[in-house]
Amino acid sequence: MAIIGIVAVANNFAVGKNGKLPWHYAADLKFFKETTLNSAIVMGFNTWLSIGKPLPKRLNVVLSRSNSLENQPNVLLLRSVAEVLALSNYLKGDTFIIGGAKTYAEFSGAIEKWIVTEIPETVEDADAFMPKDFLDEFERAEIKELEGGLRVKIFVKNQNR
Ligand SMILES: NC(=O)c1ccc[n+]([C@@H]2O[C@H](COP(=O)([O-])OP(=O)(O)OC[C@H]3O[C@@H](n4cnc5c(N)ncnc54)[C@H](OP(=O)(O)O)[C@@H]3O)[C@@H](O)[C@H]2O)c1
Repeated sequence: MAIIGIVAVANNFAVGKNGKLPWHYAADLKFFKETTLNSAIVMGFNTWLSIGKPLPKRLNVVLSRSNSLENQPNVLLLRSVAEVLALSNYLKGDTFIIGGAKTYAEFSGAIEKWIVTEIPETVEDADAFMPKDFLDEFERAEIKELEGGLRVKIFVKNQNR
């Protein structure tokens, strides 16, 4: 099944500030939940700390080279991109790469589809960003409107490259 990146990005490509999401849009959180429910979600250790608990009804895969985690249901600690890709081959559903910036960068070559919520803000003093060219090899497939006027764009990898 597919490896899918899901991200909310500000006008200036910011995705995070001080270890947190620098905005709050309930409609986007609802969309994220509906989209990822019953699937595997893969997050870097910083995002794991930022969320603070496993997200329910999903396999929470946490990536870290050196940190350890307390054993708990529905949480799996993996040590490399290769381990995640090996696991995803055996899963029935899609694997969602949910961030943060370092983790998106590590999976950039493996992601086949991006689900991008456009945040209509410019975040001053952000410290986590998407690269400006992260969609260069992708073409837009779909646009969804969320409540409150937020827009989600779905991009699939360009087959001609
Ligand atoms: N806007 C959005 O959609 C969105 C989504 C998620 C997060 N965020 C934001 O992004 C920020 C966090 O991003 P971040 O870049 O600082 O951190 P991150 O990607 O969440 O976590 C980075 C850590 O993950 C581990 N890691 C990453 N790649 C790995 C690999 N290939 N193998 C093994 N371990 C790996 C390492 O942990 P160790 O150091 O433990 O080895 C690394 O230090 C926060 O502000 C958060 O709120 C935004």
